[in-house]
Amino acid sequence: MTQITIDPGLKKAISDYQLPETLGFGNVMTPVMASCTYEKGKWGPLELLPYGPITMYPTAKVLHYAQEIFEGMKAYRVNGQGPFIFRPEENYLRFNRSAERMAMPHIPHNIFMDSVFELVSYTANFVPRRSGESLYLRPFMFATEESLGIKPAEKFRFMVIASASGSYFSNTSEGLSVYIERENARAFPGGTGFAKAGGNYAAGLSAAIKTKQLGFVQTLWLDARERKYIEEMSGMNVFVVINNELCTPKISDTILDGITRKSLIALARDSGYTVHEKNIDINELIEDIRAGRCTEAFACGTAAIITPINYFGESDGERIPLHFPEGKISMELREKLLAIQEGRVADTYKWIATVEPKTLP
Ligand SMILES: Cc1ncc(COP(=O)(O)O)c(C=O)c1O
Repeated sequence: MTQITIDPGLKKAISDYQLPETLGFGNVMTPVMASCTYEKGKWGPLELLPYGPITMYPTAKVLHYAQEIFEGMKAYRVNGQGPFIFRPEENYLRFNRSAERMAMPHIPHNIFMDSVFELVSYTANFVPRRSGESLYLRPFMFATEESLGIKPAEKFRFMVIASASGSYFSNTSEGLSVYIERENARAFPGGTGFAKAGGNYAAGLSAAIKTKQLGFVQTLWLDARERKYIEEMSGMNVFVVINNELCTPKISDTILDGITRKSLIALARDSGYTVHEKNIDINELIEDIRAGRCTEAFACGTAAIITPINYFGESDGERIPLHFPEGKISMELREKLLAIQEGRVADTYKWIATVEPKTLP
């Protein structure tokens, strides 16, 4: 049983809160946050607090050595049903795989789940209700130990915050354009690419600047050894459709094992599609697009859902457009996945967990 304490200011923070009409992604934070600290080998009580600033010492190890991990998951309440959380067990398992890689403590199942479920139950009224919108949940853990020595910290804080969110992409009226990054690498064998660790994302930001300067929306990473095989994008996995069959890079220690990817593989196979998890050579892929064998491609992830790719491109400005920039199979799978996530069809996969809305006395 998790010991839960509720901050006396929480009731007012919730009653004063109003969801704005325009959401965007990751900007509109809802009024509850969960927090739990780890010290002397033990996790403390779980606190529910009003969303707000936190304090830590300038020597907190996370600020120097990036001992930080996170997760991304969503609660849905379309048409007032739910809230439903999509595959939270998968996020829990991945969080602990990340924790292990980054020399951080394992988070107990009850603390992770109670943080997420309690937060959503008190925030149920602020889960957006239009299809495609959701409450984006961000569990994260960071090293708070105050010392500059380079060694694994012994004090940590685990938190969950939530953001009422709409579409991840705000600038894709022309579709999702993808820049093939042939210079920098994001992850390398034996590294941390498979972990959801903040440092991986920082390593991708200079390429994000270049991507934007060149007029693209997303960066496609290639393998670090040969710069030959496609891996993933900075915050989503990738699929391509070749001869009406789906292909996606096979998971390795340089690719995040996406829960959307995993779910889509099951959904696509059950819908009669062949799905290959394999190495995809970027130059062969470009040939396949030019020859009309590869007709569509899409990005997928919790934030992005499924977003069809308009064209791939190179630093010299060359563009390789997809035959179906609006997606065909992509949009069919997107609708199937969203219908399950939003509770609009029977959940035969048992992917959905229901949250009981609660109010504070
Ligand atoms: C690097 C990276 N790849 C892939 C994904 C997609 O994973 P998921 O479908 O679990 O959100 C994400 C987002 O979480 C990501 O950050």
